[in-house]
Amino acid sequence: MDIMEAMRARHSVRSYTDKPIEGETLQALETLIGECNRESGLHIQLVRNEPMAFDSTMAHYGKFSGVRNYLAMVGKKDKRLDETCGYYGEKIVLAAQTLGLNTCWVGLTFKKIPDAFQIADGEKLAIVIAIGYGATQGAAHKSKDSAAVSKAKDAPEWFKNGVEAALLAPTAINQQKFLFTLHGDKVSAKAGLGPFSKVDLGIVKYHFELGSGKERAVWL
Ligand SMILES: Cc1cc2nc3c(=O)[nH]c(=O)nc-3n(C[C@H](O)[C@H](O)[C@H](O)COP(=O)(O)O)c2cc1C
Repeated sequence: MDIMEAMRARHSVRSYTDKPIEGETLQALETLIGECNRESGLHIQLVRNEPMAFDSTMAHYGKFSGVRNYLAMVGKKDKRLDETCGYYGEKIVLAAQTLGLNTCWVGLTFKKIPDAFQIADGEKLAIVIAIGYGATQGAAHKSKDSAAVSKAKDAPEWFKNGVEAALLAPTAINQQKFLFTLHGDKVSAKAGLGPFSKVDLGIVKYHFELGSGKERAVWL
């Protein structure tokens, strides 16, 4: 499965089997996390065999079961932290999908377990991502249409493909509150108002880059 197929195959999965993440899969995941941390300055950590974060009433209320591994999206407190976590977290999410793993971004329905991961001085935990072998593959979300999340006159094919890819992305409570606007050969991306909408923005920008085939330089 390549990364474009992974974008279509990925759905949030909240129920996991007890198969551990190990061997080459674990190695590939840790290598990518290391690359993302070096490039972004984030302090993303893979927490394995830690069932307590998703053992609370809140997690059950959120319909999670069998979650024993998650990514702690940690980084320096600054105004771009959420968006950066969204961008790099989704890069790991889609790579995980190609490795046969499943994921779910989780902003609320988990418990922060002290000592399960590190938060250095000046850092904070922005969000977590449950990861593991799903008991199911999830299901496609309902989606807005392109016109609701983009503005462009005579949109070129690459822009349409970028928006289409962004609509496949996970967003908090499936809110899809983002807007892509075309300005010549550049694009501006804005987050709307809503919980975790800045994390969503990073996520959808990563999808847009993949779908459009454009590099990060496309952003205005
Ligand atoms: C930033 C963010 C936060 C999320 N927080 C939660 C959460 O706390 N609990 C939960 O069950 N799902 C959470 N989700 C998953 C969304 O509900 C899910 O991505 C959305 O409904 C779209 O479905 P899909 O991921 O299957 O495409 C979150 C997703 C994102 C992107």
